[in-house]
Amino acid sequence: MSQNLSGRKAIITGAGLGIGRAIALRLAEEGCDVGLFDRDPGSVDVTAAMIRDKGRRAVIALGDASRPDDVVTGAADLVQALDGIDILVNNAGILRTAPFLETPYAIWREVFSINLDGAFLFSQSILPVMVEQKSGCVVNMASWTGKKGVPNHSAYSASKFALIGLTQSLAGEMAGHGIRVNAVCPGVIVNTRMRDLAEELNHAQGLPDVATRVQTTIPLKRAGEPQDVAGVVTFLCSDDASYMTGQSINITGGLWMS
Ligand SMILES: NC(=O)c1ccc[n+]([C@@H]2O[C@H](COP(=O)([O-])OP(=O)(O)OC[C@H]3O[C@@H](n4cnc5c(N)ncnc54)[C@H](O)[C@@H]3O)[C@@H](O)[C@H]2O)c1
Repeated sequence: MSQNLSGRKAIITGAGLGIGRAIALRLAEEGCDVGLFDRDPGSVDVTAAMIRDKGRRAVIALGDASRPDDVVTGAADLVQALDGIDILVNNAGILRTAPFLETPYAIWREVFSINLDGAFLFSQSILPVMVEQKSGCVVNMASWTGKKGVPNHSAYSASKFALIGLTQSLAGEMAGHGIRVNAVCPGVIVNTRMRDLAEELNHAQGLPDVATRVQTTIPLKRAGEPQDVAGVVTFLCSDDASYMTGQSINITGGLWMS
């Protein structure tokens, strides 16, 4: 289904692997030129090559989404290379799990600095351009654990709750400027490095694996794929979602429903 994104310009953070790569590919398929931001040059080069194979433009900025200098420079370089910006997807994120009492402050800070500060920094860099042109769309990558606290995920879960708060706050502030701000809340998404890491941790802690969770907790009886998330993000960026802002959309196969 066409989402009418032809000619638009999109920046996706954490576009080297997993969900970010799938979003970049889908937005390119729908007609966007894309700017890719990631700290891993090898993987983001592959994403760019896949997009160019589809005949679309892909430009890259390397950097760490938690570092203000990297974001200010990277965002400006991408906007200049794309000659404008219509869509920002704040996707870069990391997962660290541990019992709360064994969570070092450094890990707490690391998770917040990427999952939350990264979205703050990119939004502050890109929104002035969108305000000036009186249009734009931001999608933040939250999680179902941003709506329900999960044991051993205190830093991750708290960072995603905060990202939903940022989404709602910004949506209210930006509506008058013609800019929509939404979030998506994926559940268990396989074929991502993050899920592979989570599986290793579950195995080490004797917790149920993905296959068991699918059968016991996911009504649609399958894990999600990065493309499932990319489809919803693409919809939110399209004119079909022009009356939606401040929303946090679950993409969980029914694992979480509120
Ligand atoms: N995989 C899941 O089950 C799942 C579920 C819910 C939410 N999410 C969210 O989706 C987003 C993407 O996750 P994924 O599963 O695709 O992860 P992934 O680990 O497969 O890919 C993450 C990408 O982000 C990049 N990245 C990480 N930290 C960065 C930083 N500081 N600066 C720049 N780039 C950085 C990595 O290099 C990588 O290319 C994250 O925000 C994550 O919290 C994932």
